[in-house]
Amino acid sequence: MEFFAEWAKLVLRVLRPGAHLFIASNALMSQIVYAALADQGLEFRGQVIRLVRTMRGGDRPKNAEAEFPNVCTLPRSCYEPWGIFRKPLLAGMTVGDCLREFRTGALRRKPDGNPFEDVIESERTPQREREIAPHPSLKPQSFLRKIVYSALPLGEGIVLDPFMGAGSTVAAAEAVGYVSIGVERLREYFEISREAIPKLSMLRFPDTQLSIFR
Ligand SMILES: C[S@@+](CC[C@H](N)C(=O)[O-])C[C@H]1O[C@@H](n2cnc3c(N)ncnc32)[C@H](O)[C@@H]1O
Repeated sequence: MEFFAEWAKLVLRVLRPGAHLFIASNALMSQIVYAALADQGLEFRGQVIRLVRTMRGGDRPKNAEAEFPNVCTLPRSCYEPWGIFRKPLLAGMTVGDCLREFRTGALRRKPDGNPFEDVIESERTPQREREIAPHPSLKPQSFLRKIVYSALPLGEGIVLDPFMGAGSTVAAAEAVGYVSIGVERLREYFEISREAIPKLSMLRFPDTQLSIFR
C-alpha cells in the first residue's frame, strides 16, 4: 500500500492532466493497489478484464486433498484485472477542452470506430514471444497493443512504462506507431529489451484488423 502511494505521487508529477494510466494486477491485490492510487488523487475509471486462464487457484486444501475432494480454497483464476486511472482534468475543464489543450482526457476508439471495451479475450503469452523476450511476466503483444492503442485518444503523446521488463509495452507502442519510453531497473532485462523490442514490434497477426486487433 505504501509503495503504491509513493509511486502514485511520482506518477502524478509526470502525467499530463487527463492522461490515462493502466496498471496490471491480480484478483487478490487489485483492491489494495487501486485504493492506494485513488487515495493519492488518481481517478478510478474502471478496469479492463483480460480473460486468460492461468494456473492460479482452484487447488484442494493442502494435505487434505483426499478428505475434501469437492473443495477448492480459491477460485481458479480465469482473468487478470487491469486498473484504469486518469489524472484529473484541470478545474472547470471539459473532456473536449482537455483533448484540445493536452491531447488527453479520453480513450481512443478501436480502429473500426467502436468504443474501447473493458473485457478483452486474451491468451497466455505465446512461445515465440517468450523466446524473443525471456522475462517471467511477459505480456502478449495481442493484448498489449489494444491497451496501448487506447491510451492515447488522438494517437499523440508519449507512452511510459516505468516497469519495462523485457520491453513488451514499448514494442506494442512501436507496433501501433506511438512514441514511448521504458524504464527498467535490472540490467539483464534492459539488455534483453534492446534486442527484443524491434523483434516483438515486427510481429504481425494475419487475422487482425490493422494488425492490432484480433
Ligand atoms: C512485471 S515486470 C514487467 C514485465 C513487462 N510487462 C514485460 O512484459 O516484459 C516488472 C519489471 O519492473 C522492474 N522493476 C521493479 N522495480 C523497478 C523500479 N523501481 N524501477 C524500474 N524497474 C523496476 C522489474 O525488474 C521487472 O522487470
